[in-house]
Amino acid sequence: MRKQKEPEGGYFFLLSGENPELAVYEFKSIISTLDSPIELRVSPDNRVIVLLANISLDESFNSDIIPYLMKRVTLVHFCAVLLYQTEYLGKPPETFYELISSFDISRIQELTPNQSFSVISKRIGEPKGILCQLNLTQEFSRYLGTQILKKNPSKRVNLENPKEQFVTVLSNQGLWFGQFVSYSLRSEVRSRRARLRPFFHPSSMNPILQRTMVNLGAVRADEWLLDPFCGTGGALIEAAQLGIKSVGIEIDRKIIWGAYQNLKKYEFFNYSPHLVFGDATQLCLKKGMVSAIVTDPPYGTAASTRGFDLKDLLLTFFQEIRSILRPNNRVVMAVPSDVDIEGQAAHILNATYKTFFQYVHRSLTRKIIVFIIIK
Ligand SMILES: C[S@@+](CC[C@H](N)C(=O)[O-])C[C@H]1O[C@@H](n2cnc3c(N)ncnc32)[C@H](O)[C@@H]1O
Repeated sequence: MRKQKEPEGGYFFLLSGENPELAVYEFKSIISTLDSPIELRVSPDNRVIVLLANISLDESFNSDIIPYLMKRVTLVHFCAVLLYQTEYLGKPPETFYELISSFDISRIQELTPNQSFSVISKRIGEPKGILCQLNLTQEFSRYLGTQILKKNPSKRVNLENPKEQFVTVLSNQGLWFGQFVSYSLRSEVRSRRARLRPFFHPSSMNPILQRTMVNLGAVRADEWLLDPFCGTGGALIEAAQLGIKSVGIEIDRKIIWGAYQNLKKYEFFNYSPHLVFGDATQLCLKKGMVSAIVTDPPYGTAASTRGFDLKDLLLTFFQEIRSILRPNNRVVMAVPSDVDIEGQAAHILNATYKTFFQYVHRSLTRKIIVFIIIK
């Protein structure tokens, strides 16, 4: 059975397929930093998010909200204005004819006249039915291009340099069609990878995951973020790129010197992060000074923990931070997947938590744990 939906103005976002659950959580965390209530729908496979238009927000959607989201988010490929969507409730199309019948052509009438355009299609998820067909995306793009021309004769196809780009996402759960707005800034974030910084240390985290973690902290620009095991400064650099004030603490003199060299490399348009030589288990901070803690503590080698057992070190750390956090503040932490800490930590912090697994390489899978302090 197929359910065709009336197009509801709004936007859709194609999420990265590496870790869709984490991608949805990142997106929702960023939305939670906005003052406006925004309604969103997530596809059952967590690959597409639709932001529903909200008449009162129409103007600020275009000028503020979408640019803000696309600047922050890491686990999204692109954003498009939603022109049409269909959900295949459990029964994806078997034939090309069924696929094109699932698209209501009347929706592509009256597009901006005279503009050159191109259409691209993307197939996502596990292919079933017609989605298994080779060349399907080219064929579907060609079909839509022809239909757009039929309904809008003043338009022209330009594959090289179109003024407008239309995009379709095809999955066995549905079809989303719209006008391309922008890609996320993943490639810009990637350009800050640790090996390109003045000071490199093998424990440095990749900047995409580092920025994802900053986003999971749900910190607004102008609020303070603390990274108490800041290493070479990756989280501080990503936070500062987003206008978030940050402070990093590091116990190793050589590494904090390296973090300082790294921070100097980037120009921050608002706030430069602060660095403090110190111990994460003795913070001496007052309640409410920071809105989130985002951190990647040592992974347990005796050198990195200065001889402490990792679990003991983390439990001491949680005791230390319990009194400085307020309700709804978040603690985002990356630990190796075999470190069983979240139950005890949640108890100490009086927090709920959510865990995500992130494969790094054959011998390392990380857990990203997000604790939210209970009211
Ligand atoms: C996994 S690294 C952090 C990597 C960081 N995310 C980056 O991108 O560079 C953990 C850091 O915690 C530091 N560290 C270990 N024990 C500490 C403590 N008690 N207080 C503060 N820093 C500590 C280590 O020296 C190490 O640099």
